[in-house]
Amino acid sequence: MKLLVTGGAGFIGTNYIHYVLDTHPTDEVVVLDALTYAGNIENFQRIEHNPRFRFVKGDICDAALVDKLVQQVDAVVHIAAETHVDRSIHNADDFVRTNVLGTQVLLDACRKHFNKRFHHVSTDEVFGSLGRTGIFRENTPYEPRSPYSASKAGADHLVSAAFHTHGQAVTISNCTNNYGPYCFPEKFIPLFITNLLEGKKVPLYGDGMNIRDWIYVADHCKGIDVALRKGRNGETYCFGGRNERSNTEVAQMILFEMGYGQEMIQTVRDRPGHDRRYAIDPEKAETELGWAAETPFLHGLRKTIEWYKTNTSWWKRIKNGEYREYYEKQYGVNGITGPAPERPFDIRGEKT
Ligand code: NAD
Ligand code: TYD
Repeated sequence: MKLLVTGGAGFIGTNYIHYVLDTHPTDEVVVLDALTYAGNIENFQRIEHNPRFRFVKGDICDAALVDKLVQQVDAVVHIAAETHVDRSIHNADDFVRTNVLGTQVLLDACRKHFNKRFHHVSTDEVFGSLGRTGIFRENTPYEPRSPYSASKAGADHLVSAAFHTHGQAVTISNCTNNYGPYCFPEKFIPLFITNLLEGKKVPLYGDGMNIRDWIYVADHCKGIDVALRKGRNGETYCFGGRNERSNTEVAQMILFEMGYGQEMIQTVRDRPGHDRRYAIDPEKAETELGWAAETPFLHGLRKTIEWYKTNTSWWKRIKNGEYREYYEKQYGVNGITGPAPERPFDIRGEKT
């Protein structure tokens, strides 16, 4: 297969394209990514000379570019999004534009070009917030509560509408919180690990008793891939780690593994509208797709801590902003001016 992967320079996208290139020896991957603050082409160092990989810098809302790229591939794996809840509380504009409008632009191109297969990578946050009991499943009614989750819910509805209205070949997956390598250090687990590596305290929101169901990113990537290749059109698949933990518990595990005590926790003001608990029942994906989350939490957490310890320059360059200059130095401001880049960094989306 030749895949167009949107958002391939972000956390899950980077892990997914590495997974595809490593697992499917004849597959080709074209990444379309706008390189927002969350995208980082330094992530491609291991694959940038792989002839089966190509990077296009561009916006999923750019209909002409998307149209051109969709023609060149067999399927689209749509991962690009604005993703950080705290940012969406501050300003929701980019969330609505990228997550809602961008998804429709991709769907339109897929419909136009012989109904190209489309998989949407979504989140369990669209289902809202659970109390002490209950669990999210594929048929749980949507009840998003943050601008981020509302925009992802809008995207999911557009994907569903493309199936029901136009008979498009689509699937959706809704996954719980991911952790692992290449996660931008504004999210809970990498923020806590990198703060401790810098000898700084870690900010725990509210009473620390909010619960998330953590999944190792490689397990999610396998799920995305199997949903793309084996999922039935029009279906949703929920992926989760069967691994519910309170934020306090996760913070304590990180502190313990990194040799720090409780005194490094700084309790801070709670996030407005902070969802209390997320949890997924992944039974449908397990029985229908033969998928299961395999990485035990402590093992995954240790691997993640090790990755951030080994890749200090990766997250330090993010925290001090230097990673933003790398692309511009090599390819000009926004990649538009400067010397014409050669493969694989084809900024114009031309077939090479
Ligand atoms: P991320 O923020 O690390 O990466 C997002 C990527 O999308 C970045 O590379 C960014 O440059 C790119 N992007 C943003 N706007 C764009 C645009 N307009 N055009 C092209 N590219 C654009 O996000 P992530 O954590 O890797 O999440 C990826 C997807 O997975 C999202 O759709 C998210 O909703 C979903 N998801 C994430 C988690 C999680 O825990 N991180 C869990 C479930 C689902
Ligand atoms: P986050 O990684 O932002 O993911 P999401 O909000 O999408 O679940 O946050 C995970 C949990 O950690 C969430 O309950 C908020 C909490 N949190 C903190 O306690 N401190 C922090 O600095 C951050 C970023 C999150």
